[in-house]
Amino acid sequence: MSNSSGIERDSFSGRFAVVAAVAGSAIGLGNIWRFPYLTGENGGGAFLLVYLFFVVFVGIPVMTSEFVIGRATQRNPYGAFKKLAPGKPWYLIGIMGVAAAFMILAFYTVVAGWTLEYFYQSVAGNLSGKNDAELTQMFDGFVKNPFRPMLWFLVFMGLTAMINFSGVKNGIEKYTKILMPLLLILLIILCIRSVTLKGAAAGLTFLFRPDLSKINPQVILTALGQSFFSLSIGMGTLITYGSYIKKDENLASSASLVVASDTLIAVIAGIAIFPAVFALGGSAASGPGLVFIILPSVFQNMPLGIFFATLFFILLALAALTSTISVLEVIVAFMAEELNMARRKATIIATVSVSALGIITALSYGPLAGLKLAGKNVFELLEYLTSNIMLPLGGLFIVLFIGWFLNPELTKNELTNDGKFKGRFLPLFRFLVRYIAPVAIAAVFLYGLGIIKL
Ligand code: PHE
Repeated sequence: MSNSSGIERDSFSGRFAVVAAVAGSAIGLGNIWRFPYLTGENGGGAFLLVYLFFVVFVGIPVMTSEFVIGRATQRNPYGAFKKLAPGKPWYLIGIMGVAAAFMILAFYTVVAGWTLEYFYQSVAGNLSGKNDAELTQMFDGFVKNPFRPMLWFLVFMGLTAMINFSGVKNGIEKYTKILMPLLLILLIILCIRSVTLKGAAAGLTFLFRPDLSKINPQVILTALGQSFFSLSIGMGTLITYGSYIKKDENLASSASLVVASDTLIAVIAGIAIFPAVFALGGSAASGPGLVFIILPSVFQNMPLGIFFATLFFILLALAALTSTISVLEVIVAFMAEELNMARRKATIIATVSVSALGIITALSYGPLAGLKLAGKNVFELLEYLTSNIMLPLGGLFIVLFIGWFLNPELTKNELTNDGKFKGRFLPLFRFLVRYIAPVAIAAVFLYGLGIIKL
């Protein structure tokens, strides 16, 4: 299908660039901050097991489907569904995606701001010589502060906007290519230090020996939500990025490669963190502060600790940046293409409005801690609604769309590049998008939200 608008559209420049950009979106705080803290709260190995199931049987099909929709239409999610299903309500998936992008950006960028604070603190020398209790106190004191979390949030929002300003190739692509490999190396160094601490084995047992009695509806729903969050799927981020992928790229193999790297990074982050938690006497269930409390302890226990801490927090911030730009891109592409706005104007309007919500979110462990709904503060509410509800719901409709609505020929053409590859996996893919993925998501919803009981 050619680009009917006739405007030369920006695209990624080649195979490595595509995988790097999509991996840049997928790999971020979701892997290094969120995966460990959720694993710690939800029973360790049991959570990991359920998570891996969803990554393979739901994550890969949804990601591949998003690529198909994006590349076939060369549009933002809303426009893509309008084009493939004119006059039908499927475009609502695109609207929900824009809403989810808005909400995710508002809390994700807050955590990205936390990484800047820790970068600053490590340069200032304040991360050394502190025990576990002091590091916990430092984290709590920081998130309760009425200014600092907001300030760092705004700095990070500004950085994100600056990159989106310049578009796909000059902005997004350039930054992702070198950073991910560097982060991987640093994480591996951390793993080595962590597993060689005295008493580390208990942490490996916690992470890799599933205690199946820990599995309950909440654990399953959280694992499903985390698989969507970590892979950047269910809200059209990868429809948007898919629309920048050239016609000669292999979509299914790119998706599998990204899913494999994303999962690897999450597991490696787990190996860096849990052995240290057990060896250094922290608590696995410390919540969102987990990595900010534990990793500084690990750095103190290694040679050149401050150097590594500084490098780590700056790389983590950059990994977060390649994710925030992909989230902002969903909103910008929508506004630019559907509301006919200039790209730059769209970027500014999106940034300013997300910032308004983000400021409230940044203060939700401090001055606005009392602002609660159903026992959750603004931060927790945004996190829960997007990750556990909106993304899986979006994913459910995306696979239903590909599996039951869209002409299978179109999917086949996209996945075989008009017959250039054999596509031996196609029957399996169809089976997954028609039955396995939708049934799994629907079942988790009904069970996890307490609508059915087993
Ligand atoms: N996947 C990103 C991460 O793990 C976060 C993200 C979620 C990005 C949804 C885009 C869309 O850090």
